[in-house]
Amino acid sequence: MNTILSAAQSRPSISIAFLLSSALLLTSCQSSSSSAELTHELAPFPTLMIDNGDGFVVIAHRGASGYAPENTMPAMELAYEMNAEMIEVDVMLSSDGVPVLFHDAKVDELTDGSGNLKDFTLQELQALDAGSWFDEAYAGTPIPTLEELLIWAQGKMTLNIEIKTEAYREALSESVEPRVIALVEQYDMADQVLFSSFDYRILARLKELAPSIPAAVLYEPVQSARKGPVTVVNSLQADGFNCSVREYSEQWQQELTQSSIPVLIYTVNEREQMAELIQRGVQGIFSDYPDVLAEVAAEELPTP
Ligand code: G3P
Ligand code: MG
Repeated sequence: MNTILSAAQSRPSISIAFLLSSALLLTSCQSSSSSAELTHELAPFPTLMIDNGDGFVVIAHRGASGYAPENTMPAMELAYEMNAEMIEVDVMLSSDGVPVLFHDAKVDELTDGSGNLKDFTLQELQALDAGSWFDEAYAGTPIPTLEELLIWAQGKMTLNIEIKTEAYREALSESVEPRVIALVEQYDMADQVLFSSFDYRILARLKELAPSIPAAVLYEPVQSARKGPVTVVNSLQADGFNCSVREYSEQWQQELTQSSIPVLIYTVNEREQMAELIQRGVQGIFSDYPDVLAEVAAEELPTP
């Protein structure tokens, strides 16, 4: 019945062993029920630095990644020019522990290098060309650090910082969570960011270390152990539910709406799907084309 189920999406690479252990953890929490109720207070949704007041958030996925190389500063600048109300970025760790913006485990597809990103020092990463693969006009564009993005975005653009499972380290002191929290606090941006992750271990640590910074579940079916969305949000003390357009059902929407849990849907690049989701009442959509999404939102929603 709904045409929303056809968007192309890539799956995150998460090891089977940890998926199973996380799923067992979650299984021992609440039982599944379509009428699950929220059991904790949600941290407030981040303040939008750009907001047209229609109650819907236009999110640039990896920056304006339909027009510039994803997760680079030119993609951030374009998203800002296009009046995106939030930018989503992916965060990984260099071998010397610096959070950088990058999506893939390997650098091969998105740079002129090859190998696993986590094996490169920051200096080695910064020598890579992260722009030519997209267009020669972007030759020499570097991989940005998260700190560089925060300096650019402070007081200017609200961020969804998605933390990739490859940035998780068993030893907390070597892992991504305290490093990202420290940077957000250093730049006084706790009310200007939304954390998210497909890796529920990372989410649990984020909420434990910084409960007042909002963090959304990025729905991952195995770790969720067939639980409904509200139960998963409860289990992680999370503040929102981010979900693939392919997985988001009417039933989930009803459950989440009843509990007033913010829902953000990725990645939607077709006008029809955008309009359908906006009519269904989602709080925000991630798109590689934030200008198109803003146009559709303006058509579908009354502006104050
Ligand atoms: O955070 C939403 C979306 O970006 C999740 O998927 O693979 O594009 O990072 P991915
Ligand atoms: Mg992402």
